[in-house]
Amino acid sequence: MVNIVDHPVCVPAGIITLRDFRLDDEADLLAAFADDEIARWNPGPIGDDAATGFIWSRNDWSGGDHASWAVADGSDRLVGSVSLHKIDPDQADAEIGYWTAPWGRRRGYAARAVQTASSFAFTRLGLHRVHLYHAVDNPGSCAVARAAGFTHEGTLRESFRYVDGRFHDEHLHGLLETDPLPGGGVRQGRGVTRPGRGRTT
Ligand SMILES: CC(C)(COP(=O)(O)OP(=O)(O)OC[C@H]1O[C@@H](n2cnc3c(N)ncnc32)[C@H](O)[C@@H]1OP(=O)(O)O)[C@@H](O)C(=O)NCCC(=O)NCCS
Repeated sequence: MVNIVDHPVCVPAGIITLRDFRLDDEADLLAAFADDEIARWNPGPIGDDAATGFIWSRNDWSGGDHASWAVADGSDRLVGSVSLHKIDPDQADAEIGYWTAPWGRRRGYAARAVQTASSFAFTRLGLHRVHLYHAVDNPGSCAVARAAGFTHEGTLRESFRYVDGRFHDEHLHGLLETDPLPGGGVRQGRGVTRPGRGRTT
């Protein structure tokens, strides 16, 4: 059974904390979205009003279709974002997306955030699978997926049109609640036992 969590939940995770976005994150958010790499792969709000709208929408979990967090470092500064979205209670799965601001990169924050959000998906939401897509031209994202324990499941041909207007090949990576934790150990998943359904034909 999948649980709907309809309010932001703070998750301490060692070097980072997954927390809600705050209005005092706005300047850091705008600086992050002005970064060329984030603008290329995860375009976000431009301008104060849009940043405020982003904050409100990421903190509003009431629809049950996403669980989104600001990633904060040890000083509680915003260093990134991670989001479980397209949560599908019927299929017990979700997609995950992430970025790290330029001032937080190469410190293990994205990998830790993806691991932590995925564990939340399995243990709190009761999901069975989390997956992600990234452009083949984005090897940093591929490294994060692998570091977080996701398996490369295939390459999709020209599957998404990014900001440059081109259709890019993408990798699909997936993580199951039954997959081992990176570095060994067993995940405490809840198991999905309800009946499934046929694919739409
Ligand atoms: C890609 C991105 C998320 C990496 O964030 P990060 O916090 O620096 O990543 P981490 O420090 O957790 O690194 C995890 C692993 O990825 C590797 N890595 C990180 N950035 C990399 C890069 N640009 N190229 C190659 N490897 C990279 C690290 O070395 C580490 O590998 P290891 O576990 O073998 O040591 C960040 O650079 C970013 O936000 N880029 C722009 C937006 C983006 O690409 N979002 C993802 C869209 S799908």
